Amino acid sequence: MCGIIGVVSHRPVGGDPATNSGVGQILIDGLKRLEYRGYDSAGIVLADKGRFTSKKATGKLSALSQAVKGNMPVGNIGLGHTRWATHGAPSCDNAHPHFACDNSIALVHNGVIENYQTIKTKLAKEGHKFRSETDTEIIVHLIEKYHKHHPPLESVRRAIEHLEGSFAIGVIFAKKPNILIAARLNSPMIIGLGDKETFLASDIPAILPYTKKVIYLAEEQIAEIDASNSAHRVNIINFKGRKQPCQVSTVAWDAAGAEKEGYPHFMLKEIFEQPAVVRTTSRYYLDTKTNTVKFPALTGMAKQLSAVNRIVLVACGTAYHASLVGKYAMEELCRLPVEVAYASEFRYALPVLDKRTLVIAISQSGETADTLAAIRAAKAKKALTLAICNVLGSSITRDAMVTLYTFAGPEVSVASTKAYTTQITAVILLSAYLAKLRRTLTPKDEKSLVREMLALPDKIEKVLTLNDMIADYADKYKDVTNFMYIARRYNLPNAFEGALKMKEISYTHAEGYGAGEMEHGPLALVDDTFPTVAIAVKSNVYDKVISNIQMVKARKGIVIAIATEGDKFIRTLADGVIEVPETPEILSPILTVIPLQLLAYHTAVKKGRDVDQPRNLAKSVTVE
Ligand code: F6R
Repeated sequence: MCGIIGVVSHRPVGGDPATNSGVGQILIDGLKRLEYRGYDSAGIVLADKGRFTSKKATGKLSALSQAVKGNMPVGNIGLGHTRWATHGAPSCDNAHPHFACDNSIALVHNGVIENYQTIKTKLAKEGHKFRSETDTEIIVHLIEKYHKHHPPLESVRRAIEHLEGSFAIGVIFAKKPNILIAARLNSPMIIGLGDKETFLASDIPAILPYTKKVIYLAEEQIAEIDASNSAHRVNIINFKGRKQPCQVSTVAWDAAGAEKEGYPHFMLKEIFEQPAVVRTTSRYYLDTKTNTVKFPALTGMAKQLSAVNRIVLVACGTAYHASLVGKYAMEELCRLPVEVAYASEFRYALPVLDKRTLVIAISQSGETADTLAAIRAAKAKKALTLAICNVLGSSITRDAMVTLYTFAGPEVSVASTKAYTTQITAVILLSAYLAKLRRTLTPKDEKSLVREMLALPDKIEKVLTLNDMIADYADKYKDVTNFMYIARRYNLPNAFEGALKMKEISYTHAEGYGAGEMEHGPLALVDDTFPTVAIAVKSNVYDKVISNIQMVKARKGIVIAIATEGDKFIRTLADGVIEVPETPEILSPILTVIPLQLLAYHTAVKKGRDVDQPRNLAKSVTVE
């Protein structure tokens, strides 16, 4: 968690005051685009004439923007950081950047240094003075120690040899205004190559307005950007000091994707992007001339994939719910045993894996620490590994044997929406591909699935037209203290997902439950004040869900049903009905989740919550 940005530029120091385009403003604007990564305090530092000027503020980035108004630090090099606290409360002392004793070195950090206490004690004995409670501060003091005898790059290399845990760091030296250093271990870091300016950042959106040319720093690499002349030189070494090749990639995302474009919140914008991103993702994996699935990335692995006898899906949070949909699809289409594991459990559970097990990691960011560790554990056991991921070049994509990308574009809101529906799209199409390899899917069934998939984006559009009606439901139920979400089979993961969305952005307690489990306990909660959202679309479990709704109604519970268009019967039962177009059950979670996302969104808005940046959370969970 935490967001980092760094810049070294040949712009005029202080920028053009008319356009406010100096390095300081680049840092503030970049942090704004990284704020989803952490938002309890923030800081920037710039170097000019051999000295640092820094500004820090607690609270959201707007506090820092306010603090620099008319008083922006100047310089041609600088670092910025937006924090999600791990060690030490959110305060100006604990906010980054952190400085060496003599204020000659400044550092920002994303990650956790697990052995910081031992190092801190040792450094304190050597005379270093600490000004914060963070784990981070020890890194800059270690660099200071080595910088007495070594140049910047070597001092950083020697310092990080001591560190255990995870880190992405940016380092600058007051007296070396042309040297910007970055390093990473288990936390993301990219380098952006602009026009006479170079950037480092935790994530692509931070630098998209300036460049699309990036270098993805790999694990255990350190980069030194030398801006002594206008053709900046990027020198990359590994932690042992050996020179590394550097590969420049071009990012396909555009800057507009990371802006709100008139929507009040990123979350609403991202919900409304779902027809487009589901269309792009599905079309990438479909041959629309023959109505068949295609996965060129998997051709080289076809033999190994045909021999797979078990599949394990690993993920966290919303991506875990997409994995649960994947389990139903893979079991139905491929007739293989499929397990779904929380990545946080899988990595410590001594899983039984071998080369005939396919381990699939699903992750929007590709940086979730537990999911990354799970894929590495699978690799160590010689299992086949595959990632379904949204971020090109992210850590999980580097570790998995092969990656299938979702094409959701940048997802900025902390609550995941469009990433979820594209993950489900990809995992269902992958199931169809694996089923073809195993000959458990007939060409006729494949074509029919593909046709239905292609029809889905228009159906999502239709569900989105219910936005105002769903806002009215949110208004009606915004003050309840509990929500229950129930469903069966393919839609059960959406019961969990609907409850998660409601909890995380509206702070209303909500639970997702298998509809058939209600009478095993949760039914006791039901009274005439208790709303249950029941997903009861047409499928072979429809009648079963209807019985479960009837049980709730018999206890005077309130029921809001997500039902198939034209279902008259359910209107006689439920207190409210939200209709979605008909689609095969396997694809229905992509439609039924949309009203659940909107219900949580409008409830949060009506309760005055911070929708895009809910309390206590951050988007990329890069710590355990
Ligand atoms: C919830 C949410 C989280 C993420 C989870 C995994 O709305 O966004 O639960 O789904 O932290 O993140 P990724 O997919 O980046 O691995």
